[in-house]
Amino acid sequence: MNEQMKYPKLFRFLHWITFILIVLLFISGLGMEDYKFDEGNFFRFKRHALMGVSVLFITLIRLAYKYKNKHRFPPEIEYYSPVHEKIVKAIHLLIYIILILAPIVGFVTIYQTGALAYDFGGPFPENAELNPSLINLHKFLVYTLGLLIIMHIGGVFMYKIKTGQSLLKRMI
Ligand code: HEM
Ligand code: HEM
Repeated sequence: MNEQMKYPKLFRFLHWITFILIVLLFISGLGMEDYKFDEGNFFRFKRHALMGVSVLFITLIRLAYKYKNKHRFPPEIEYYSPVHEKIVKAIHLLIYIILILAPIVGFVTIYQTGALAYDFGGPFPENAELNPSLINLHKFLVYTLGLLIIMHIGGVFMYKIKTGQSLLKRMI
């Protein structure tokens, strides 16, 4: 496949880095459930937070890059129907929105405990508690993201089965 039919190199790189970070975030996020939010476990939360905030920045860079380099992107795929086009575009848009919102909600969840000052030499707040509503909102967003990603991956493979064309080559 020639380069004009592929997404630009930087965009492909950011797509797969995001994929790796999301897998690691799910592993670390599910692992954190068993740990109390205290000084001894703070590094686990911090590790998760750093990866999550990286996803936020990478997504902002990705969107800015896409906006500025539209002309370097491959032509759109051949949709099966106008409904298919709407679904694909809605899934991509929702993924981008959650890649921005989930890290922000996660960040606020940790920020509201006052524990961030600990990173700058301050004391770890006494009886720090993660706000349950914020955790639930974060969970809702990341599980919705998980579902959208499954639909996204399913769609890519379905396209190959239906049309015989591999979309993966455009992103690798
Ligand atoms: C964290 C997981 C993933 C996220 C968040 C994600 C997100 C996205 C988004 C938002 C786009 C649209 C790009 C744009 O035009 O703006 C896209 C494109 C694409 N993704 Fe993923 N993706 C993920 C995982 C995967 C995986 C595992 C595959 C492999 C099957 C895959 C294959 C593709 C392909 C082939 C395209 C290009 C589709 C086209 O040709 O238009 N993605 N991805
Ligand atoms: C796209 C980025 C992110 C993803 C995919 C993600 C994913 C997850 C997952 C899967 C969980 C476990 C949910 C469960 O217990 O069922 C979780 C929990 C959590 N995440 Fe994230 N996360 C992201 C970003 C962030 C960020 C940036 C922060 C903080 C700065 C953060 C803070 C937390 C906290 C505090 C919990 C709750 C842990 C607990 O239950 O005690 N997350 N996240």
